[in-house]
Amino acid sequence: MPGWTRLLRAYGEGERAGYVDFFWRVQSLNFVMNDASSKQTSPRKLIIAIDGPAGAGKSTIASRLARKLGYVNLESGAMYRALALKAIDRDISFDDEAALVKLARGSRIQLEPTIGGNRTLLDGHDVSSRIRERDVTEAASRVSVHPAVREWMVAKQREMGAGGGVVMEGRDIGTKVFPDADLKIFLDADPVVREQRRMQQQKIKGEVAANVAAELRERDRRDRTRAASPLVAAGDAVVIDSTKLSENDVLARVEKLVAEKLPG
Ligand code: DC
Repeated sequence: MPGWTRLLRAYGEGERAGYVDFFWRVQSLNFVMNDASSKQTSPRKLIIAIDGPAGAGKSTIASRLARKLGYVNLESGAMYRALALKAIDRDISFDDEAALVKLARGSRIQLEPTIGGNRTLLDGHDVSSRIRERDVTEAASRVSVHPAVREWMVAKQREMGAGGGVVMEGRDIGTKVFPDADLKIFLDADPVVREQRRMQQQKIKGEVAANVAAELRERDRRDRTRAASPLVAAGDAVVIDSTKLSENDVLARVEKLVAEKLPG
C-alpha cells in the first residue's frame, strides 16, 4: 500500500476514497506543472526535512521546492496550530498536558495538499485561515512544549511522510520526526531580519508590529529552550543562513542539495 494511502487511512474514521482520489489528482497536476528540469521522474522519492525558527523562510522554500519536485509539502506547525485551536474552543488550559493529549487523540487533523498550498482540516472543518490568527499562534507555541503532545504529533507526522516524496517543515523534523531523512536543511536568519519579514508578510506597522515582534521573540525562546525536542539543527543538517539571501538564492541552494541526493 503506498505510504500516502496508509496516511490517509491513518487519518481515520472520516477519511473516504474521495480524498484519496483528490490527492492523486493533485499529485498528477503537480506533476504536469513541474518544469522539465525537475527530477520528479526519479523512482526514489526523498524525505526532505526543513527546520528552523519562524520567519527564516521555511514555508515558502518548502512549498516552492515541493512544487518543483512534485512532492507534497507538509507543514507540521499547522498540526500544532489545529490542536491549539481546538483547545481554545474547548477552553482547555494550554498547560494541561493530559487534557491536551486526550483532545489530540479524539481529533482528526488533516493536511490536505492543494495546488495553492495546504489546507488544514480539523474534524472535517477547514481551519486554514483561523489557525494563522494571533491567539492560535500563541497557543500553538504553548501547546507544543508538552512531551506527550509532541509524541502524538510525531507519530502522525511519521505516518504522513513514510512513503517519501515529502518536504516536511517544522522544528524537529530532522531531529525527531525523520532522523534518517534523505536531506535535512536548517534554515536560519538573523532575528531582526526574521521579525521584519514577518511584519512585511502581515503588513503591520507601529505598535502592533512591535507587539507581534515581541511575541515572535518569546515563541522563539520557548521553541529553543523547551525540554522536549528544542529547536536545534540536527548534527547532519545543512545550515543555511538566509539573512542576506533572496528567496530564489535559498531555493537554488536547496535544489542543488536535493540534486546531489537523487540518483542518476
Ligand atoms: O511553524 P509554525 O509557526 O506554524 O508552528 C506553530 C508552533 O508549533 C510553533 O510555536 C512551534 C510549534 N512547532 C513545533 O514545536 N514543532 C514542529 N515540528 C512544528 C511546529
